[in-house]
Amino acid sequence: MHRPPHFLQRLLTCIRLFQYPGYAWVTAVICMVLVALCEPMVPALLQPLLDKGFQQNSFPIWLVPVALIGLFGIRGMGMFVGHVAIAKITQTGLLALRMQMFNRLQDAALPLFRQQNASAIGNTLVFEVQVGAQTLVNSVIGTVRDSLTLIALIGYLLYLNWKLSLIVALLIPSVAWLMKVLSKRLYALVRHSQQATDQLSYAVEETALAHREIRLHEAQGMQTQRFEGLGKAMSRLAIKTAVANSGITPLTQLFSAIALSAVISVALLQSQDSHMSVGGFAAFVTGMLMLANPIKHLSEVAGPMTRGIAALERALELVHATPVESSGQHRSERASGHLQLQQVSVRYQADLPFALDSIDLEIHPGETVALVGSSGSGKTSLANLLPRFVDLTSGEILLDGVSLPHWDLRNLRRQFAMVSQTVVVLNDSLAANVALGQIPDRDKVVECLLAANLGDYLQTLPQHIDTLVGHNASTLSGGQRQRLAIARAMYKDAPILILDEATSALDNESERMVQDALQTLQMGRTTLVIAHRLSTIESADRIVVMDSGKIIEVGNHSALMQRNGVYASMFRLGSSGHLSHA
Ligand SMILES: Nc1ncnc2c1ncn2[C@@H]1O[C@H](COP(=O)(O)OP(=O)(O)O)[C@@H](O)[C@H]1O
Ligand SMILES: [Mg+2]
Repeated sequence: MHRPPHFLQRLLTCIRLFQYPGYAWVTAVICMVLVALCEPMVPALLQPLLDKGFQQNSFPIWLVPVALIGLFGIRGMGMFVGHVAIAKITQTGLLALRMQMFNRLQDAALPLFRQQNASAIGNTLVFEVQVGAQTLVNSVIGTVRDSLTLIALIGYLLYLNWKLSLIVALLIPSVAWLMKVLSKRLYALVRHSQQATDQLSYAVEETALAHREIRLHEAQGMQTQRFEGLGKAMSRLAIKTAVANSGITPLTQLFSAIALSAVISVALLQSQDSHMSVGGFAAFVTGMLMLANPIKHLSEVAGPMTRGIAALERALELVHATPVESSGQHRSERASGHLQLQQVSVRYQADLPFALDSIDLEIHPGETVALVGSSGSGKTSLANLLPRFVDLTSGEILLDGVSLPHWDLRNLRRQFAMVSQTVVVLNDSLAANVALGQIPDRDKVVECLLAANLGDYLQTLPQHIDTLVGHNASTLSGGQRQRLAIARAMYKDAPILILDEATSALDNESERMVQDALQTLQMGRTTLVIAHRLSTIESADRIVVMDSGKIIEVGNHSALMQRNGVYASMFRLGSSGHLSHA
């Protein structure tokens, strides 16, 4: 379990997020002081009223309602303006924190997305910070306000009768001790609840994603059970939290009752020596009873404050503890595309075998190199190394003679266009998806879509290239989606092209048509092509045959056929996928 240093220090770190805007703070503080000063005014008004109000002509009657209405008017105004100022402070800090998190999401090192699923990240960004900001700011402001009220009231009580006030003052340390004990317990509970919430929303995300599979395999029962189990775990935690929270109020009230009875007894004893007027005594007891409210609030603040800190710490952890993708300095307008892989090895986890094992490969500018090999032989891993989606375990990769980590990362990625097995489409217009990241040049978009053989599809669209493609392009077939990715690669016009089974979702007919487009696309570019149908890579300059992360054969088609090795037998079977079963 995460156990950070010191409560106050952590609290300060979190509060610092909400230091802007300054004018809102000034307003909030003025309002709080005003409201706090109004509190002892009520008993202070009571004293002259009781002592003199019932004697004739001591002061005009109309003063009483005017004073009361004026007092509550000022207090109400102070509360209203104060709340608005606090909302401004909360929202300013919240937005800044959200932006920081979102920016970190964009430059985070990729392992983050393997460690945390989308719903956990979504929870942190959308839900946790919201709850955290609101509860923390409200409870901190509440604490300040109640403390000010407490100070004002106690000051007044001391002024009335300092001896009696000493009894009241004993209340405060006992309540503080209670809060300290309970906030420890609450922190642990809150951390567990966060994990439970993540798991619950993950179950929902998964059920939404796999809705067809779940129905087809009748897995509804299982999913429901899982969800119910997680839901129950959350309820248990919520009840435990409620138990910890609810204990505070009765205990505080018990302490208050003890103090009150002590005060009344002592005051009655004192009044026999007639130190105190009736009005004075009434004012004192009223003032004391009014203490109960801020004390109760203060005793209850441990819960929300702990909850807020835990939530904001999770956000801060994402911002500060997530490693960022490393980047170098080297930039190039357009790389020539000379790639050198030297003794490259990749291992995803220490207990897994090498996915790539000491690969040596040089790809010259403009050359087309095909990677073939059975499924799991490491082709995709090798392709992912180039735009640094996967990090090397050992070895070195050079582009134009410069080691990849020395390249400016954004600039490096600008050199690659990639069409891969799984195509992810954003829920935006067709044009925005083709020109991804750039403002679409409409003619060029259409040109690319036509070249990617999506012309017929385009004809059927009511809004042409402005048609929205829906959540993860659910309106597109697998083949259309892949052609969209091809159009995207064409639009990007990068010097190096990576095709990872770029046509695997196409039927023979459309594959042949797209193949022409791909051939045009490859001209003048360095190309790394991974194909499931060997017939499509016959014309490659060089064919690299891989098996279990190693290169086992290299040569052009005719040389490899002549050699009559693995490639030749694969070719006779017609597909690289059959090697492992051959
Ligand atoms: N993110 C990952 N984490 C762990 N293992 C992985 C990951 N990606 C791929 N692998 C493993 O690495 C090996 C090579 O996979 P891959 O490069 O996808 O092969 P290919 O594209 O040739 O089918 C496989 O054994 C696969 O299980
Ligand atoms: Mg693959």
